[in-house]
Amino acid sequence: MKLIIKADEENKTRIVGNCLSRCLIPGITVLLSGDLGAGKTTFTKALAEGLGIDPRHVTSPTFSILHHFHEGKIPLVHIDLYRLGQDPDLDEIGIDEYLDGHHIMVVEWSEYLGDESPLKYKALLIRLTFESENSRLFEFVFPDDLFNMMACFKKCLEGQGIEYESTGA
Ligand SMILES: Nc1ncnc2c1ncn2[C@@H]1O[C@H](COP(=O)(O)OP(=O)(O)O)[C@@H](O)[C@H]1O
Ligand SMILES: [Mg+2]
Repeated sequence: MKLIIKADEENKTRIVGNCLSRCLIPGITVLLSGDLGAGKTTFTKALAEGLGIDPRHVTSPTFSILHHFHEGKIPLVHIDLYRLGQDPDLDEIGIDEYLDGHHIMVVEWSEYLGDESPLKYKALLIRLTFESENSRLFEFVFPDDLFNMMACFKKCLEGQGIEYESTGA
């Protein structure tokens, strides 16, 4: 199940991230893919803000690779794989302790993950595309077992007046 959303201004990205944060449950991984400047970190800030984390504390973790935040309603782990490149050694960054079903993991540059990565279990995939200076296209791919999460997300978007296109495939 896919949802396509056009965020033609940065504030819409903020609303979309806020909406998703209200629907996320512990143990979920959010896999973000898209080029530099596509808006992965901006979207993560919005998610964090919705969880009650100060978005100013969410910065690109490109150099430290992993940041975790405990102050929100669900603990959040923010990972950026850019520096590790293709097929990263996740043991090196010590993700195991966070794969306990109690955290929300957000992964930038998730296209670098191998097929067998434990981060792909219970994952919502989001592809971001740069359209123009202030416009980004979001494609959300919800696996079947996250149907309720998608329903919650759609309801929030509708309440906020954000349009989306929904496809079954
Ligand atoms: N609609 C939008 N959604 C998200 N970011 C936007 C949007 N319009 C402009 N921007 C800007 O694009 C940049 C995205 O950067 P960033 O979130 O760091 O990207 P990434 O993490 O994908 O490299 C930010 O400077 C942000 O202010
Ligand atoms: Mg980034």
